[in-house]
Formats: sequence, C-alpha cells, structure tokens
Amino acid sequence: MKYRTLITIHYVTRTLLSALLLVITACLVSTQVSAQGAAEPVCITCHSTLPEKYSLPVTLWRTSIHAENGIFCSGCHGGDPQDAVNAMSPARGFLGAPKEPAIPAFCGRCHVGVLKDYLTSAHGRMLGKGGPTCVTCHGNHHIIKASLELINEKSCSRCHSFDRARTILASMQNTEAMIVALDMRLIAFKSIGTDTEKLEKELFTVRNHFHSLFHNVNVDLVTKESVVIQAELYKIRDALVQMDTTIWKRKMAGAGVVSLMLLIAAVLHIFKKNFKL
Ligand code: HEC
Ligand code: HEC
Ligand code: HEC
Ligand code: HEC
Ligand code: HEC
Repeated sequence: MKYRTLITIHYVTRTLLSALLLVITACLVSTQVSAQGAAEPVCITCHSTLPEKYSLPVTLWRTSIHAENGIFCSGCHGGDPQDAVNAMSPARGFLGAPKEPAIPAFCGRCHVGVLKDYLTSAHGRMLGKGGPTCVTCHGNHHIIKASLELINEKSCSRCHSFDRARTILASMQNTEAMIVALDMRLIAFKSIGTDTEKLEKELFTVRNHFHSLFHNVNVDLVTKESVVIQAELYKIRDALVQMDTTIWKRKMAGAGVVSLMLLIAAVLHIFKKNFKL
C-alpha cells in the first residue's frame, strides 16, 4: 500500500514537472517570436540558405522600399509565407517569377495608376518588342524611392538616344526645384506660427500630379503639363508673397506704434523741462 502511494506521488510529480516544462518552453518560444515582431516568413528562412541565384533576392530586398513598407516576397510572388511545405504551391496563389511581358501587370496590381500610364506610353506599346519594363528602370528586388536620378544617360541610352529623355528631364528638374523651394518656404512660415495648412495641401496635390507625369514619356505631354503645374506653383508662390507682405506690414505697424510712443515721451520730456511743471 505504501509502495503504491509512493509510485502515485512519483507519477503525479513527473506529470506536473513535464507539464511545467512544456509551459515554460511555449512561453520561451512565444517571447522569442514576439521579440522579433512576428515569425519570419518561410520564404526568407529557406531562400537565405539556397545558392546565390535564389538567395540574392533576399539580400537585395532587405534594404528596399518594399521591405520598409512591409511588402514581403509573397506580396509580389504570392504563395503561403506560413507553410514551408506548400509555400510555392500554385494552389496557395504562388505566381512564380514573371517572364518579361508579364512584369508590368505583376507590379501594376499595386501600382495601378503607373501601370495605366505605362501601358498607353511608347514604352508600354513596345512591351515584349524591345520596350523597357518596370524592372528595366527600377530593378526587381532592390527597388528604392523613385527620383529624377533614374533618368540618366547611362540608363536611358541603352535603346535609343538620350535627346528626348534630356528634354523631359530638363522640364521636370525645373518643376522639381520650384516644388523644393516652395516646400522650404512653407516650413519656414510654419516655424514662425503662420497657418500654412491650406497651401501645404495644395502643394501636396500639385506634387502628386507632377510625380505621375513621367511614365507617359511623351515629350509634348510632359512639356505641356509642366506649364500647367508650374502655373499652379506660381499661385502658391504668390500666396506666400502675400503672406510675407502681411507679416512685414504688421511688423512695420508695430514698429510705428513704438516710434510714436517714443516721440510722445520725448515731447513730454522736453515740455516738462522747459515749462518746469
Ligand atoms: C523549403 C524551401 C523554400 C521555401 C519555404 C520557399 N522557397 Fe522559393 N524556391 C526554393 C527552391 C529550392 C527554388 C528553386 C527551384 C524551384 O524553382 O523550385 C525556389 C524558387 C523560387 C522562385 C523562382 C521560381 C522560378 O520560376 O524561377 C521564386 C520566385 C520563389 N522561390 C519564391 C518563393 C516565395 C515567395 C516563397 C514563400 C511564399 C518561397 N519561395 C518559399 C525553395 C523554397
Ligand atoms: C517588388 C516585387 C518583388 C518582391 C517584393 C520580391 N520579388 Fe522576387 N522577383 C520579382 C520580379 C519582377 C522577378 C523577375 C525578375 C526579372 O525578370 O528581373 C523576380 C524574380 C525572383 C526569383 C527568380 C530569380 C532568377 O534569377 O530566376 C527569385 C528566386 C525570387 N524573385 C525570390 C524572391 C524572394 C525570396 C523574395 C523575398 C525576399 C522576393 N523575390 C521578393 C519581384 C519581386
Ligand atoms: C523608362 C524607365 C521607367 C519605366 C519603364 C518605369 N518607370 Fe517608374 N519611374 C521612373 C522614373 C524616372 C520615376 C521618377 C519620376 C519622378 O520623380 O517624378 C519613376 C517613378 C515611379 C514610381 C513613383 C511614382 C510616384 O508617384 O512617386 C513608381 C511607384 C513607379 N515608378 C513604378 C513603376 C512601375 C510599376 C512600372 C511598370 C508598370 C514603372 N515604374 C516603369 C522610370 C521608369
Ligand atoms: C503588393 C503590392 C506591391 C507590389 C506587387 C509592388 N509594389 Fe512597389 N510599392 C508598394 C508599396 C506599399 C510601396 C511603398 C509606398 C509607396 O511609396 O507607394 C511601393 C513603393 C514602390 C516604389 C517607390 C515609390 C516612391 O514613392 O518613390 C517603386 C519605384 C515601386 N514600388 C516599384 C515597384 C515595381 C517595379 C514592382 C514590380 C517589380 C512593384 N513595385 C510591385 C507595393 C507594391
Ligand atoms: C529597353 C529599351 C529602352 C530603355 C532602357 C529606354 N527606352 Fe525609351 N523607348 C524605347 C522604345 C522601344 C521606344 C519607342 C521607339 C522610339 O520612339 O524610339 C522608346 C521611346 C521613348 C521616348 C519617345 C516617346 C514618344 O511618345 O515619342 C522617350 C521620350 C523615351 N523613350 C524616354 C526614355 C527615358 C527617359 C528612358 C530612361 C529612363 C528610356 N526611354 C529608356 C526603349 C527604351
């Protein structure tokens, strides 16, 4: 009887101990996961261990604007980032690596406006027949914030002369410089407590319009639209000049009041001295 009780105690303790161990392990694993934010997608875990052709995309992607904005491998390629066995199953939406003519639609699932402009452009019309795709200009995995620096002689004279590109670049650089200058003046006004909200919104809209201009690659259209955009920018500039004048007038009025008071004080002083009041 005594022996049996001993065995029962031994059994209960063991069960309790192993249950405790399980709980501790689970806690450890879950804190490890939450310390990393979330478990790393299986695409990255597995691809990091593969030969260069398949691991280089991971290295390149890590410092891209997509990684920065939470667009992982599966955001572009589809598939199941949680399930290592079925990750690349078409049944889980895996799209594979797109062939050249499929690339614009592949990127255009998210960049809808750009795709529309691209498809109607001289570049889009030559898709699959020598025209550039999105990755020709932006790259595939190391895509960074777009800027006019993408328009350069090395990149744009791979297929034709740089002449037309140069015209587009010149008019866009002009507009860009105006936008940057206005932005800086708005920041300066804001820092002295002026209400700039309305003008900031206007500039934001104009800037978006401006940055959606390029993919048409139509010299006439870009030149014509640049004139329209610059006219909008001149309006914002005039509003800022108006603000400057108002602030100056207020300052002068303030200075005027002070000078007047000083004058009165001086006159009173002289009056007092001369008439010994
Ligand atoms: C267990 C390992 C493993 C996992 C998990 C994995 N891959 Fe792969 N992947 C491979 C191997 C191996 C290849 C090369 C052979 C092949 O194409 O099947 C490959 C190839 C690819 C290719 C190139 C296909 C082609 O047509 O050339 C893409 C794109 C890709 N993987 C994306 C992903 C994405 C996205 C995920 C996550 C949803 C993922 N992989 C998860 C091992 C993996
Ligand atoms: C912004 C979209 C995008 C993201 C995000 C992305 N890829 Fe890709 N990937 C592409 C495109 C487009 C291609 C086709 C490449 C080309 O033709 O230039 C490609 C091709 C590939 C290939 C085939 C390479 C070859 O040489 O055949 C592999 C493998 C691959 N990607 C893996 C990954 C992995 C792993 C990740 C996550 C770290 C990832 N990709 C993230 C767009 C993306
Ligand atoms: C001939 C080169 C070229 C091609 C082809 C191209 N782009 Fe661009 N892209 C640029 C340049 C240059 C800019 C910068 C324009 C600017 O700063 O206003 C840009 C800007 C962008 C932007 C930022 C736009 C914004 O509103 O700020 C996105 C997103 C983009 N491209 C995506 C794409 C996608 C998707 C495709 C394919 C459908 C594509 N690009 C094709 C050169 C190209
Ligand atoms: C799953 C959606 C998705 C797909 C697919 C995708 N992108 Fe993006 N892309 C984003 C997001 C989100 C951002 C960051 C926010 C932004 O700037 O629009 C971004 C940013 C960009 C930018 C920088 C925009 C800027 O403001 O300067 C470029 C260029 C770009 N992507 C090009 C591409 C190209 C080329 C492809 C195809 C190879 C592609 N993207 C595929 C979602 C996507
Ligand atoms: C992969 C080849 C290729 C690259 C790279 C390329 N283009 Fe083009 N581009 C073409 C083709 C093809 C056409 C249509 C035939 C033509 O007009 O020369 C074209 C036409 C143009 C046109 C005339 C559009 C029109 O409506 O008349 C402009 C402007 C242009 N490209 C600008 C650029 C700029 C800017 C870059 C660099 C950011 C660039 N291209 C890079 C292939 C390319």
